[in-house]
Amino acid sequence: MESEAGVKVEKHKRRLPTETMAMNQPAQKDSIASLDHDMAGKNLSGYWRLGMEGLPNHPLTTVQPCLWKWQDVYDSLIRAGDVISLENSERRVVRLVNPGLDQRHAFATHTIQVSFQFVKPGENARAHRHTPAALRFFIQGNGAYTTVNGQQCVMEPGDLILTPKLTWHDHSNDGHAPVVWLDGLDFPLVTALHQVMQERYPERRQSIDKSSEDVASSLGSSIGPNLPLTDFFHYKWRDTEPALRALTKSPDARERFDGYLLDYRNPVTGGPTMTTIQCAVQLLPAKQETETHRHTSTVMYHVFRGSGATQIGEQRFEWRQGDTFVVPLWYDHRHMNLAADDAILFSMSDAPALKALGLYREEF
Ligand SMILES: [Fe+2]
Ligand SMILES: [Fe+2]
Repeated sequence: MESEAGVKVEKHKRRLPTETMAMNQPAQKDSIASLDHDMAGKNLSGYWRLGMEGLPNHPLTTVQPCLWKWQDVYDSLIRAGDVISLENSERRVVRLVNPGLDQRHAFATHTIQVSFQFVKPGENARAHRHTPAALRFFIQGNGAYTTVNGQQCVMEPGDLILTPKLTWHDHSNDGHAPVVWLDGLDFPLVTALHQVMQERYPERRQSIDKSSEDVASSLGSSIGPNLPLTDFFHYKWRDTEPALRALTKSPDARERFDGYLLDYRNPVTGGPTMTTIQCAVQLLPAKQETETHRHTSTVMYHVFRGSGATQIGEQRFEWRQGDTFVVPLWYDHRHMNLAADDAILFSMSDAPALKALGLYREEF
């Protein structure tokens, strides 16, 4: 039995010819290229392939400082008015494209998309809803309105209208001239989270059950938890401008980096305008400039009134009414108004999203 067992063991240990050959030759050295190749076939990858000697000591972005001239935007909108029909296209919109981002996505920043919409008299941009939240800052024309969840918001220059995530909305122009407004959406952020979806309303237009004026008057002085959050969508310029002007009467209200700035707050929670975007309007007094700072939020600015300049990193951007520009994250920046009149900027920042994630920082 023992000898049988011994034979069996001997048989089992017998080396194959190729193994014997390998032992007689020097062992082949493994290499990084060979390891990378083999791991790639197993859906694995080494950290060394990132080519980083550790992480950067400040956040990096490919978003570039950029300014879009109103004349270029407006000329494109007029041409789009001739060749794009709202019967064939869901919206007639010209998008701002940041040269530092992947052109396939055509976004203004990595978190916020900004575009301009053009609706001709008698047209209706059909009702739909989507997961990206949107805001409208109305620029030009009258007689147009946006309907949000059955609430009619008649749009006048300087008005801000919100269409938060999954609210039904359609736009109509019952006036006699084309209208233009700015659209801001958290589309890139929602895209990065793989959450983009859109649904069409069963009919082209929603029926209207109330107006934003009704909602505003019902708010009165009783702003509080009884008002459904989803009911407040419309900030009128006729309320915003006096509040902004009133701020300028108080020298203490002037902020080092922004001049006189009003945040559009949620009237019920006092929190940001929307969960992902903070809107603000700021007045830069004539012949004055702000101090320099930087922050991890990226801000899109639209010039509503006046002219001036903003230093962003090494570049200086001269702006005037209708222009739009971006201050990317962690770029030093300051604003200058060298003109004889006050300037007013409308802005959209991704700060609420960063704060929710604990990623907001400011330095000066
Ligand atoms: Fe939409
Ligand atoms: Fe800033």
